[in-house]
Amino acid sequence: MNKISKLAVLTSGGDAPGMNPCIRAVVRTALYNGIEVVGVRQGYKGLIENDMYDMDKRSVSNILNLGGTILKTARCLPFKEDEGMATAYKHLKERGIDALVVIGGDGTFTGALRFSRKFPDIAVMGVPGTIDNDLYGSTYTLGFDTATNTVIQAIDKIRDTADAHDRLFFIEVMGRDSGAIALRAGISCGAEAILLPEKQTAVADLIKNLKEGKSNKKSSSIVIVAEGDKNGGVYDVAKAVQQEVKDYDVKVTILGHLQRGGSPSSFDRILGSRLGFAAVNALIAGESQKMVGLQANHILLTSLDDALNNHEFKLEADLLQMADILSI
Ligand code: F6P
Repeated sequence: MNKISKLAVLTSGGDAPGMNPCIRAVVRTALYNGIEVVGVRQGYKGLIENDMYDMDKRSVSNILNLGGTILKTARCLPFKEDEGMATAYKHLKERGIDALVVIGGDGTFTGALRFSRKFPDIAVMGVPGTIDNDLYGSTYTLGFDTATNTVIQAIDKIRDTADAHDRLFFIEVMGRDSGAIALRAGISCGAEAILLPEKQTAVADLIKNLKEGKSNKKSSSIVIVAEGDKNGGVYDVAKAVQQEVKDYDVKVTILGHLQRGGSPSSFDRILGSRLGFAAVNALIAGESQKMVGLQANHILLTSLDDALNNHEFKLEADLLQMADILSI
């Protein structure tokens, strides 16, 4: 077991609801074990710019309910360069920091793994914090549950007005290359169709389904388009459909960044707390270059390499099948 005396914690990439409960758990678990904690502002940017501060128990009071991240976050291109990494390493060493907890998604982990391979004397532990739910080794990532609930609430409201006007809505949801939010939101809201990056839907088939729905007396229709769908984007799909389905009034809504905000759900507060607690305990046990993740309701470690590159990770087949059958 390596003795950790001081750790730094940061959040990086897109913020996700649940990051604050996780920061709280990291800080308090570390302090409980006699480890000093430094908070890094704005992710890797804060490492390069030496923007860090000592944290104590009270630094994380009353933040469980807050969306966003009290440490702030950024997407940091200079950290991809050797020079940026060397500067970050120098600042960490100057402060006597021997471990780093990074909370973020695939971009964050790619940076963490490269950094750790270059400078293995600083132990690195990843926490999957992204609304995209796209990391191997954790059934759920932090923020995915809250974001999906936010999307559901928004789509339910759109359904009301769509139904009142007999309209067809195309709704774009976030997720980058992952259709996880789109699929769950689609099933939860009874979407007539869900366009996903993982499963190509021909626009011609979509048009056929929507026409059938209309002749089956559907008064409104909702089509969810994941932002990573490969049909050219929500506006192109809506335009192609409008040309063919003349008796529907077509509208487009892009939910955008509202999906990332809001108070974390109970699920994300507990998940963030469990993952933060486990991340510190894994570092104390001498682990590095790993990610803590939720698997069958246990917190297990996966190598950062696998979390990023294991392509066995897929959307659930039963959900994909069910989405088509239940929306007829
Ligand atoms: O990775 C989280 C995420 O919200 C993606 O779903 C989305 O594609 C991206 O971040 C948006 O990034 P930004 O906030 O930098 O525009």
